[in-house]
Amino acid sequence: MKLEQQTINGIEIRIAENTDQASAVTAELIAEQIRQEPRSVLGLATGGTPMETYRRLIQMNQAGNVSFAEVTTFNLDEYIGLSPDHPQSYRAFMNANLFQHIDIDLQKTHVPSGIAVDIASECKSYESKIRSAGGIDLQLLGLGHNGHIAFNEPGSPGESRTLQVDLTAETIEKNSRFFESIDQVPRHAITMGIATILESRRIVLLALGESKADAVARMLRGLITSSHPASELRNHPAVTVVLDRESASKLGSTELSPKS
Ligand code: F6R
Repeated sequence: MKLEQQTINGIEIRIAENTDQASAVTAELIAEQIRQEPRSVLGLATGGTPMETYRRLIQMNQAGNVSFAEVTTFNLDEYIGLSPDHPQSYRAFMNANLFQHIDIDLQKTHVPSGIAVDIASECKSYESKIRSAGGIDLQLLGLGHNGHIAFNEPGSPGESRTLQVDLTAETIEKNSRFFESIDQVPRHAITMGIATILESRRIVLLALGESKADAVARMLRGLITSSHPASELRNHPAVTVVLDRESASKLGSTELSPKS
């Protein structure tokens, strides 16, 4: 596999030839973490980006190359108002795209509850569960077109901890592809905060496709600013960014989009 490696503003970048290879690299980073520490605590993401990575982890697990038997997981976020068995809930996504197919103990998988009566106390309890598990060893992230990480939208404070947020019109529109109509997309979510994410011991961010190229360039080469939350990852000492050629296509130039 041809893989280009470079460091930009202190962040290690791996650029793969295509989406499949980038997903293979990401799956291997996660598998290595588990092989080194079978009781690893993983932070996981949903969305289109990690699906191929999860498919590869399932294959590795079924081939006996990695075991999740002692792994604990915490997902980044969940829509408020969707029950765990709603097909578009992030709990249902994780069950369908990963957990059901691997040897993980479902009791050790955590997704915030979007139907908790008291959302503020659900957020607090999520933070304390992460703490009691010993913190996150490796956090997998996707990247929003607007630079969001988890559901921390532009303008989110860097010191935030798991909290209730309003989704931006752009995110609602982007995520409507998973729903029958845009009206069905929840307007609010629970998300790990930026400070929660930055406390992970290691972070792997995967971004795929041309549509992410601007957000990738701003993250790595733009200002570190809360108006592009992913840029705050540059304050973390152990981040690996995995890209395909298309998402890396705007890294060469110092010209960033007018918004930067
Ligand atoms: C998902 C999440 C989001 C996504 C981001 C990219 O748990 O937290 O931040 O990673 O919206 O979504 P996709 O991968 O669908 O392009």
